[in-house]
Amino acid sequence: MTDSVRILMCAPSHYEVDYVINPWMEGNIHRSSREKATVQWNQLYEVLKTYATVDLVEPQPGWPDMVFTANAGLVLGDAVVLSRFFHPERQGEEPYFQQWFEAQGYKVYLLPKSLPFEGAGDALLDRAGRWLWAGYGFRSELDSHPYLAKWLDVEVLSLRLVDQRFYHLDTCFCPLTDGYLLYYPPAFDTYSNHLIELRVPPEKRIPIAEVDAVNFACNTVNIDRVVVMNQASEGLKKALGDRGFTVVETPLTEFLKAGGAAKCLTLRVTEPRPESPQASTVQSRVVHLEGHLLDTGLVNRALDAIVAGGGSFQVLNFRLGEQRQDQSAAEVKVSAPDAAVLADIMGQLIDLGAVSIAEEVSEANLAPVVQAGVAPDDFYVTTIYPTEVLIGGHWVKVQGQRMDGAIAITQSAEGTLARCKLLRDLAVGESVVIGSDGIRTKRKTTTLKPAKTEEFSFMGAGVSSERRVELVVEQIAWDLRRIRDQGGKVVVTAGPVVIHTGGSEHLNRLIRDGYVHALLGGNAIAVHDIEQSMMGTSLGVDMQRGVSVHGGHRHHLKAINAIRRCGSIAKAVEQGVLRSGVMYECVKHNIPFSLAGSIRDDGPLPDTKMDLLEAQADYARLIEGADLILMLSSMLHSIGVGNMTPAGVKMVCVDINPAVVTKLSDRGSIESIGVVTDVGLFLSLLVQQLNKLTGDYAQKSA
Ligand code: ARG
Repeated sequence: MTDSVRILMCAPSHYEVDYVINPWMEGNIHRSSREKATVQWNQLYEVLKTYATVDLVEPQPGWPDMVFTANAGLVLGDAVVLSRFFHPERQGEEPYFQQWFEAQGYKVYLLPKSLPFEGAGDALLDRAGRWLWAGYGFRSELDSHPYLAKWLDVEVLSLRLVDQRFYHLDTCFCPLTDGYLLYYPPAFDTYSNHLIELRVPPEKRIPIAEVDAVNFACNTVNIDRVVVMNQASEGLKKALGDRGFTVVETPLTEFLKAGGAAKCLTLRVTEPRPESPQASTVQSRVVHLEGHLLDTGLVNRALDAIVAGGGSFQVLNFRLGEQRQDQSAAEVKVSAPDAAVLADIMGQLIDLGAVSIAEEVSEANLAPVVQAGVAPDDFYVTTIYPTEVLIGGHWVKVQGQRMDGAIAITQSAEGTLARCKLLRDLAVGESVVIGSDGIRTKRKTTTLKPAKTEEFSFMGAGVSSERRVELVVEQIAWDLRRIRDQGGKVVVTAGPVVIHTGGSEHLNRLIRDGYVHALLGGNAIAVHDIEQSMMGTSLGVDMQRGVSVHGGHRHHLKAINAIRRCGSIAKAVEQGVLRSGVMYECVKHNIPFSLAGSIRDDGPLPDTKMDLLEAQADYARLIEGADLILMLSSMLHSIGVGNMTPAGVKMVCVDINPAVVTKLSDRGSIESIGVVTDVGLFLSLLVQQLNKLTGDYAQKSA
């Protein structure tokens, strides 16, 4: 039996740590002793010779890592897929290994030149020959897996490595006799762990701890019931012993300095053929991206989404625009270990504006709503970007675009209707778009229109602070003025901080001068505003002197009480109880407002909507048709508003906390501007700027 096992090794005559291509080699350059390495290698060689026949390949000067024959290629039956090393430091080993395989009569398969695959270091056969586990993420490219499946006629299960210490599959994964599996789960992403768990029943899994993993316990040579490794903890020895395995330890510390141990130093060149050949589940698609790909960071985001989603990519084509105003275009091949992972990645790419270029574009998939308020599994989650779906051969524009909805499809006399709907609004009888086929989104691809001065170009990139605030304010003032004069719509969302920071008088001015067309907030801004108007304090703090007044903490409740007595804010204005402030100006100038309640509200004011669904609907109604939304220091209301606003609406978010600002400009829409500053100060600058502009503008247009 053991006679039938042949192993290929390469003596360490030229072994050395000469360069760094994995984390283990760091700090170890020229720190290994060839003498000691030779002793350790010989011990391993002797041990293995008692269980198998060991063949030798001639070591070559200048190729110090050639001792790691696991990386020569992957053998199955009489075929071998030769390695294509990722790092140039090892590529020179390829011809020597090729010669050896050819001399032995193997059929040698060569991968395309630029497709890395590091042999049995990254591809391990199930010991019953049922399938091949293939790793990717560091050294081998996912796209090599379909070749393995085709040439070796075997099912390939792709596993994604995520810890760079375990850069080869054989450093953290070792299939054993009888379907057992020795492995280090944290070295793999969640999806891969799930796949492992699906294929290997719990009683067959032997997960190891980090202490063993860093001693390369998974880098084991397994022949029948013997496992040969560098070192194992007592716990691991017992775990293996209990399952009928004999652990043979043989120190390989000199090779650990190069990131390898027992298994790396060997290549099994006799591998049984599996009985029932199957294919790889790897799926790929080509997508097209177009726009200001570099300026907007879109390519990076797309490639990141592919890798983070468990896929891999190949950029097939990249045409860079020559001038700043020119667009770029790219074709990217996306591969994923199976159809489900690919669908997930495709969903994200579509959100980034990518278009799938399959030979024939497939129609959107629909599934019926069978329970009111519940979408079918796998429904496509909408974004703020204009979206179209392919139904009956036509691209249908989705109405009511907003984030975090589903696309509901109904048939009407005019044809197919597609609409963004919140889950709660889905009705039985409607269909919902599922998966990612037949969906495309359009990103605004132009960069910001040329600003008045060069300094403004930074605004496209989001958040600004300090000195730049004045420049941003100048631009915002200009926009407000233009929108007002063209009969456009500006919506303001505001938090109580606006009042605390003394912004009230400025906001009042904006309302009086016709710059605000709807106000959105919560109970608090109204209460603070009314308290200030009636008692001169905001949450008990004297707004003139900036100090707490005695008994001031009761003021806000008294303010609430006064309004409750009147029945509403409007009635309080009518009855002369409320005579100034933001809410007063709104009522006086017929500016609609909506106050959305929350769990911490005192009172609340009679106007505050404590039914949140009602409040959301009310907000959505007031946002409709907005050209600009000015978000003033309220994370809660601003994010709420951001979610229901389609791309294309300019958003200005002002907050002293950069995190809030970043969160909103992260919408990825180039129309959003973040300003990190005190909101009171911002409003005062804005009013000043509008004053100046009025003069200018009046003169210019006169
Ligand atoms: N220094 C070698 C490299 O980084 C070590 C290879 C270890 N081999 C293995 N099958 N894990 O490529």
